[in-house]
Amino acid sequence: MTDPGFVLNPKIKDAVLESQNRTIMVVGGSDTGKTTLIEDLLELLLPTFRVGVVDADLGQSHVGPPTTIAWGLLEKKFEGWENLVVKDFYFVGATSPSGNLLPMITGIKIIYERARPQVDKILLDTTGMIRGGPARVLKRCMTDIIQPRIILALQRTDELEHILIGFRGMTIPKIYRMKVPPGVRQKNYSERVSYREQRFKAYFERAQSLVLAGDRIGLGGIVSEEYLHNRLICLRDTEGRNLALGIVDEVDGRMRSISVYTPLDKEKKIGGILWGKLRINLEGKEVD
Ligand SMILES: Nc1ncnc2c1ncn2[C@@H]1O[C@H](COP(=O)(O)OP(=O)(O)O)[C@@H](O)[C@H]1O
Ligand SMILES: [Mg+2]
Repeated sequence: MTDPGFVLNPKIKDAVLESQNRTIMVVGGSDTGKTTLIEDLLELLLPTFRVGVVDADLGQSHVGPPTTIAWGLLEKKFEGWENLVVKDFYFVGATSPSGNLLPMITGIKIIYERARPQVDKILLDTTGMIRGGPARVLKRCMTDIIQPRIILALQRTDELEHILIGFRGMTIPKIYRMKVPPGVRQKNYSERVSYREQRFKAYFERAQSLVLAGDRIGLGGIVSEEYLHNRLICLRDTEGRNLALGIVDEVDGRMRSISVYTPLDKEKKIGGILWGKLRINLEGKEVD
């Protein structure tokens, strides 16, 4: 079943279609229809523009696996998130920005800059973290670093106002407040967890075992050995670019060999790894 989608008012439509307004950021709490709104914007934009979607929602992402910020390129037609090829991603290593604001901002900037020269428009999907001081800082810093011309703010009542007040008196970004459509259903905790599991499982479907020489690559900090099994990691190339995610299988005593499962092509040269904050199995289930 497809959602009825949003009824975009003509002012918002015109602003979104205006070619000067290259970057459009969508903000709102969890389950406020952000991603559905992005689908509607794609429908509006794709007949005319090449569009990049930067997905900065770590936990409930549609582009790239959970724990990453990723982007995909769309031309002419949107054919479902599952058919969108990930152009590039950055590993944050957690399913929430809380406690991970630096990698979060770094990733948004890097992925945004990679996408920008390749598209006419960028739509930025964001996490549902909207409450409290850290959310305010994150949204402000995201806005400062990306400089969207338009922010579409989806709220049920006034929950975003403590963030939006920071932009009062400014003409850029132009903020359009939108009501969350009444049909939007809030997912419960277990639905979120199961969505993540399914995304991880699909990502690791073709994973193979790969042994890394732990004494010759960058290790991004030393972690206690007992927590390494099943640890989610990111494999980086020799220039520090994120190549693929992996799951640690075994580590020998002195980290000389680290065996991991990863969908990455065996020929790729690995320069280092980053440790994620969670542990999962190949079924995508979190283990503690
Ligand atoms: N306009 C709408 N009318 C009815 N249901 C909607 C509408 N927009 C979204 N939904 C449904 O509400 C849920 C949350 O929407 P989603 O776009 O995934 O929110 P978010 O990206 O903010 O988490 C989804 O199940 C979606 O199918
Ligand atoms: Mg979403």
